[in-house]
Amino acid sequence: MKLESLAKRSVLTQPTYEPGKPIEYVARELGLDPAGIIKLASNENPFGPSPKAILAAKLALEKSELYPDGGCYDLRHRLAERHGLGAEQFVVGNGSNEIIELLGHAFLEAGDEVVMAVPAFVVYKLVTLLFGATAVEVPLRDWRHDLPAMRAAVTPRTKMVFVCSPNNPTGTSNTEIELLAFVRGLPEHVVVVLDEAYTEYVAQSPDLRPLIIEGRKVICLRTFSKIFGLASLRVGYGYGSRELCALLNRVRQPFNVNALGQAAAIAALSDTAFSEACAANNRRGLVQLEAACRKLSLEFVPSVANFILIKVGPAAAVFDRLQRQGIIVRPVASYGLPEWIRVTVGTAEQNERLIAGIAASLDRRTLC
Ligand SMILES: Cc1ncc(COP(=O)(O)O)c(C=O)c1O
Repeated sequence: MKLESLAKRSVLTQPTYEPGKPIEYVARELGLDPAGIIKLASNENPFGPSPKAILAAKLALEKSELYPDGGCYDLRHRLAERHGLGAEQFVVGNGSNEIIELLGHAFLEAGDEVVMAVPAFVVYKLVTLLFGATAVEVPLRDWRHDLPAMRAAVTPRTKMVFVCSPNNPTGTSNTEIELLAFVRGLPEHVVVVLDEAYTEYVAQSPDLRPLIIEGRKVICLRTFSKIFGLASLRVGYGYGSRELCALLNRVRQPFNVNALGQAAAIAALSDTAFSEACAANNRRGLVQLEAACRKLSLEFVPSVANFILIKVGPAAAVFDRLQRQGIIVRPVASYGLPEWIRVTVGTAEQNERLIAGIAASLDRRTLC
């Protein structure tokens, strides 16, 4: 008997997530010096973590013989202060990806429908399929979530709706007024997931807490992987009603968030000067990249996040050529955008190198 015949059908048909290429892979593949490679593929923070977070993680490392606090007590209390909510209104995960999976464990089964935008963060669809539910994909309108069309896609079978604002891979957002009205207009049998992974980059980000206070079935997701520069430590969180967080806490592993991650996250939250400087750099970087696109006559999607979609035409060739110059970006053909690349906003110097790299990659004399 074949092993595969024992596996669940949803596992055998499950598509796999393609992450941005790590620097070491590209160095090995192309014989490049890893020190000269820049990665602008996964929307990480080009300035790294706050020095305070690094110090806190180093100190936590020395206590590695002890299990971490499975309930993330200190971190949840810090988050509660930050958001003006109760500590029981938070669930902490091994990255916000884990919270998306916990939502699947807690709510999704065969026969359920999950409404999401397309293109949007691909993990919503992966988790939906993993739990045997059906993904109902609603195309963006003018690059933003088409909330009226998403509302129209809701049926009695809809269990969950994902909204990503700012959206990955487009960097576009919906307004606070739009989001509040959308959630308030949904029927009671729908759980809404509002993914705010990039919200700290937005100057005036929507405040969706009124939805929680009104008792709506809503969870907002945040991550320490982006502006806080802690992607490798895997810390993300959700906030919502006590009931919703309690359900998600039931289905998680006992020690899902490691002690280094917890300590670094707490320290990162306290270094507001660092995160504000990163957000300010990002705004300057967006201006720099958008100006360069205009100069090169390249179409782009105006972004409020820490990445930008650029239409380069032969995107696979441009991706390849950039990689040979030691610049890793993200091709987005898998998001249905074969002529576009998604690039993370880097430091001013990294952005300059990227712009020069794109210009060289598009040179008609050498492009095959
Ligand atoms: C929109 C969005 N949500 C969630 C995540 C996952 O972040 P984490 O590293 O916390 O799992 C990402 C990562 O790229 C993302 O783009």
